[in-house]
Amino acid sequence: MTIARIALLGSGTVGQAVLHRLAAWQGTPIGDKLRLVYAANTRLALHDSDGLSPSKCASLLPGALRDGLPNSDALAALGDQGIRILIDATADAGTASRHAAALAAGVHVATACKLAAGTSLAQWQAINEACAQSRAGFGDRATVGAGLPLLRSIRELRAGGDHIHAIAGVMSGSLAWLFHHFDGIRLFSELVREARDAGFTEPDPREDLSGEDVRRKILILARAAGFAIESDQVEVCSLVPPELATLPASRLDSHLHLLDAPLKARFEAAQIQGCNLRFVARLEEGKARVGLEALCPGDPLAGGGGTDNRVAIWSDRYPRQPLVIQGPGAGAEVTAAALLDDVLHFSALGGKAIAA
Ligand SMILES: NC(=O)c1ccc[n+]([C@@H]2O[C@H](COP(=O)([O-])OP(=O)(O)OC[C@H]3O[C@@H](n4cnc5c(N)ncnc54)[C@H](OP(=O)(O)O)[C@@H]3O)[C@@H](O)[C@H]2O)c1
Repeated sequence: MTIARIALLGSGTVGQAVLHRLAAWQGTPIGDKLRLVYAANTRLALHDSDGLSPSKCASLLPGALRDGLPNSDALAALGDQGIRILIDATADAGTASRHAAALAAGVHVATACKLAAGTSLAQWQAINEACAQSRAGFGDRATVGAGLPLLRSIRELRAGGDHIHAIAGVMSGSLAWLFHHFDGIRLFSELVREARDAGFTEPDPREDLSGEDVRRKILILARAAGFAIESDQVEVCSLVPPELATLPASRLDSHLHLLDAPLKARFEAAQIQGCNLRFVARLEEGKARVGLEALCPGDPLAGGGGTDNRVAIWSDRYPRQPLVIQGPGAGAEVTAAALLDDVLHFSALGGKAIAA
């Protein structure tokens, strides 16, 4: 049996969940196929070519003091032969920018970070070219919908000869939660604080409210659907008023009330039409846009609850009634499971590109 060697970057919420899942697999047939040889955050890098204990990594990495170790030796730790897999559980643009080189060197990459395939077109193309030239695969199922079968369904439809006509979705768990709970009575700013404190939003909720995260998600889906669009071709209507956008993070909380009046007005206008507000991303005829919409009952995106993602796909075989995929599209556990699904896929194949 060929054992796949794994390097993990990131020991935050997702990295910890990956380590706990790997630990639970130790001594099982799945675990026997995988060997963790490197695990790092920005403060500590652990390496053992005979195999690290995932549970030890999970306890050592988070509390490590900064020791100045560079993290760039993950590739060296993986060696130059056999099945080698890099897991990116960071939100680091520098790490994302090195994925094409790793792929070109024959290392499979499984990533939860949208900054590799969801930013510049040139970087996405470099990743695809590296996959085509080497036997390595780029695993991105954790990037959109935290492993819900979105990218897979789009790719399977295209592989079956379908043209993708349109995609529309509620793709941000935090924004889904906010607009499911916003009733026009409670202040929107209060809900934002509650969502932030519950960990549903980024520590700076403007990152969610600006729509930038959703821009990256619709870009990843659009490119997989055959529309090689550039990041600035996605029209994004941010929920953050200009006065709030420029404030330092330390002054944000005391100014969150600036969200209240405009969103209450949008809510009341939607209610008059019998509709509800949802933060939606759409791709139609190769054009993408992201923003708040009033959806009426019966709209394929109107259902769902909590932090659920809900995505509709129209294609040759689904021209009027779309394929709708709904479920938990955020959270460390499902994201880690999606990353390790990609890892197991690479370990079984030995090497085959899965990026579009
Ligand atoms: N959380 C979720 O539910 C979720 C869902 C889907 C996708 N994602 C994506 O998954 C990624 C990780 O999210 P998270 O919530 O786990 O973030 P997080 O808690 O902030 O953890 C990020 C980790 O990355 C490490 N890191 C940063 N730069 C690094 C580098 N150059 N080399 C090695 N490690 C590095 C950090 O190290 P330090 O600890 O030393 O700072 C930290 O351990 C993000 O791209 C996020 O968008 C998250």
